[in-house]
Amino acid sequence: MHSLKISDEELSRLTQEAMSLALKYWASVDALPSYPVTSGEITAQLFSRSWSEKGLGRMVLDDFTKIAAHVRPSGGRFFGYVLGSGEPVGALGDLLAAVLNQNVTSWRSAPAGATIEQAVVGWLADAVGCPGLKGSLCGGGSAANLMALAMAREAKLPANEVGARPCVVYASEQVHMSIPKAIALLGIGRDNLRLIPVDDDLRMRTDALEAAITLDREAGRTPLAIVATAGTVNVGAIDPLPQIAEIARREALWLHVDGAYGGLAALAAPEKFRGLDQADSLSLDAHKWLYQPLECGCLLYRDRQIAHKTFSHSGDYVKITAEDPVEAFAFFDESMELSRRFRALKLWMSLQYHGRAAFRDAIASDLSHAQLLAQSIRSHPELELLAPVTLSAVCFRHRTKDNAAILRRLIARGQVYLSNATIHEQFALRACFVNHRTTREDVHAIVSEVIATANELNR
Ligand SMILES: Cc1ncc(COP(=O)(O)O)c(C=O)c1O
Repeated sequence: MHSLKISDEELSRLTQEAMSLALKYWASVDALPSYPVTSGEITAQLFSRSWSEKGLGRMVLDDFTKIAAHVRPSGGRFFGYVLGSGEPVGALGDLLAAVLNQNVTSWRSAPAGATIEQAVVGWLADAVGCPGLKGSLCGGGSAANLMALAMAREAKLPANEVGARPCVVYASEQVHMSIPKAIALLGIGRDNLRLIPVDDDLRMRTDALEAAITLDREAGRTPLAIVATAGTVNVGAIDPLPQIAEIARREALWLHVDGAYGGLAALAAPEKFRGLDQADSLSLDAHKWLYQPLECGCLLYRDRQIAHKTFSHSGDYVKITAEDPVEAFAFFDESMELSRRFRALKLWMSLQYHGRAAFRDAIASDLSHAQLLAQSIRSHPELELLAPVTLSAVCFRHRTKDNAAILRRLIARGQVYLSNATIHEQFALRACFVNHRTTREDVHAIVSEVIATANELNR
């Protein structure tokens, strides 16, 4: 008979070896290339294999070094997309959460886990100036946005019993792709998502929003919700939240704010986020701008009853009979999933280990890195900014060279990693700062690398 049992000695050796691999990786992360030299062929050669009949034992750890050489590193010179830096105490929290193997469906199935998740959700709500909002953790911003729109519909045009009825949702042209995806999955239909034009700063135009709602009402359609974005993925624009909230109130529409990228910056720069507390629901992503290891999304909402109305479909086998409301609490009544990992432990450990001030300062430093880069771009004759810098995303281009060619070559050089965006129909190089490891020298490396790469293109 083969067995899954591991002796105490073997487990101890395995754990120590795994920990020393983790420590080695963390110690080297800033020295790694900003993107690995790899290809689909190489990764297939290394990792596409069949499951061995006989166990490999500790040899499984030998793969780690190879894996680490073919992943996107979390070092301070990776500026692509919106990718956080995987704070190590959070990573240890994730490990310990897996050790405890809690299923955080409810207080009954995970007494400490459920209580800790409620506590950290409260911290996040406080951090963004929305005390009192309830909610839960989830995989990421996409899951949070999907749940938010499901709640919007159940609040305004209940579909759970009778099925979906036609309705219209409004968001800016710059909205993240997870919103059209959610609209499609909920059966609302992407034709019923109005993409509202933006102003020169790429913020939703409220005059166009009002006009679109009026037009739909006149045509006999049913407006349902407005999705405002607090930190658009391309440029970090914050839609005019107070004005949009006023329109939502006047029109009796649900207001969801997608703060997956930007929302948590309210901890360091609350003045930029006036009106956030007017949202009916708000998506945040602690694996982005709170530096946590993936996955760590969060959906906050004002009205717990609506979460229940949307998500509570209790089958008999999970029915909770406790009298005490704390003990009767169940996340499956308020969110999409039943089995849920103990995501809150990493936040619990990481946020308390460092304290609130350290996170506020890290976000403030990301914001100032973006301003520093913007300043270097403005003062460089060959470069031009393509959008205002509100948060930590900076979109720019070389004035005369092929920017797509610059990007390809820049990534291959491995010194800094940028991604791209399309701004006013122009190809933009894009740097986004959500990394506690980034230094001012790393920021300066962006301009010097772009210029060095552009010069290479001449040869
Ligand atoms: C504004 C915005 N919303 C939603 C998302 C989706 O978040 P996730 O990737 O965690 O699903 C992103 C991701 O970058 C984002 O920037």
